Amino acid sequence: MQSFYYCSDHLYCEETSIAKVAEKVGTPLYIYSRRALEEQYRAFDAAFSGVDHLVCYAVKANSNLALLNLFAGMGSGFDVVSGGELYRALRAGATGQRLIYAGVGKTAAEIDYALQANILFFSVESEAELEVIAARARALKRIARISLRVNPNVDARTHPYISTGLQKHKFGINLPHALKLYHRARSIKGVRIVGVSCHIGSQITSIEPFVAAVSKIRRLVERLKSEGIPLRYLDLGGGLGITYRDETPPALGEYAAALISGARGLDCTLVFEPGRVIVGNAGILVTQILYSKTNTSKKFIIVDAGMNDLIRPSLYGSFHEIWPIQRRTGPKITADVVGPVCESADFLAKDRRLQKPLAGDLLSVMSSGAYGFALASNYNSRPRPPEVLVDGRTIQIIRTRETYADLIRGEQLMTEA
Ligand code: LLP
Repeated sequence: MQSFYYCSDHLYCEETSIAKVAEKVGTPLYIYSRRALEEQYRAFDAAFSGVDHLVCYAVKANSNLALLNLFAGMGSGFDVVSGGELYRALRAGATGQRLIYAGVGKTAAEIDYALQANILFFSVESEAELEVIAARARALKRIARISLRVNPNVDARTHPYISTGLQKHKFGINLPHALKLYHRARSIKGVRIVGVSCHIGSQITSIEPFVAAVSKIRRLVERLKSEGIPLRYLDLGGGLGITYRDETPPALGEYAAALISGARGLDCTLVFEPGRVIVGNAGILVTQILYSKTNTSKKFIIVDAGMNDLIRPSLYGSFHEIWPIQRRTGPKITADVVGPVCESADFLAKDRRLQKPLAGDLLSVMSSGAYGFALASNYNSRPRPPEVLVDGRTIQIIRTRETYADLIRGEQLMTEA
């Protein structure tokens, strides 16, 4: 996280003091580094510069319009999984020809929306969905470009909730059935086969699962080509992990070399759907310490951000570094960092060694750029935090803090019968 560093014991994002942003915008708040976002996107794209490829940033990781717009400006396409994400991508300036759409439960209305936007292709996740896409395309007098999302039965060796490439998962079409479904797709009106897709999971920290998946898919691609089924795109999904603590995920160069070599000779444009690796380490969640307390022997640091703002620790037991915004020498304590939400699962860190807190101190929850704000909720009727983009010395609020009025927008009092 080179864009976040200490200068005279004060945490900075680029050339901006975090404490100053917090003073201006309040806490909790998300802060993203424009430099880190751009550098990471460019590094990913450059790793594949030797081959024909398309990067489709996975909108779900962080869907703020300003970020999507930044990526669109650098030539990124987008991987969307809902009508809402499609709407965001289009509003952020994406063109249909750079949009791909995955997800096991696309509704007819969402399919229509994507057809009208003339997206590059649908990653189809079941036979039933294929039939609906074809029917909607015929009804709208369009041709739906499709790729079947194949489930290669590869263990991504990541948290079970974010592993998607095993046969027991709901995602994709099992490899043995894929051929039959390609044959079906070839014969129905309204769709045109353009590719093969796969995505085996997220926060993958070794190269082997990627290599295993591509080698299994490769056999399918060769078979389809030998049958004269034209495949222009090989979509290898996202999933590359980042360092939260001490993980050592493959470097971009190693990842790219392995996938390029696995796909060599297939004559396909490689498509990637990276999310976390682009935005994860480009963002932090800043929170203020409200109170400290000790229950029997356990110490708690109570902060103003909770599981509704960042659910990863509660949901996956994820580790996020916690850094003080102002570093001090002196005593340390071991404590749980917890939020104000009424659940024992509401924690940001457990048994963490931290400098002894003073009320009002600010903390930064590191590596929060991916699946941070995107999974935030209004639980306990807590307004969601603002998001700020730092660019050198300037800051821009790219999403304002929600208000109490926002919380009840759309709600109605009961009318008398
Ligand atoms: N493509 C598809 C079809 C996906 O389902 C996902 C993530 C991605 C791409 C992007 O994966 P990435 O490059 O970010 O690993 N909330 C969880 C992660 C859920 C991932 C869901 N799918 C977390 O906080 O760890």
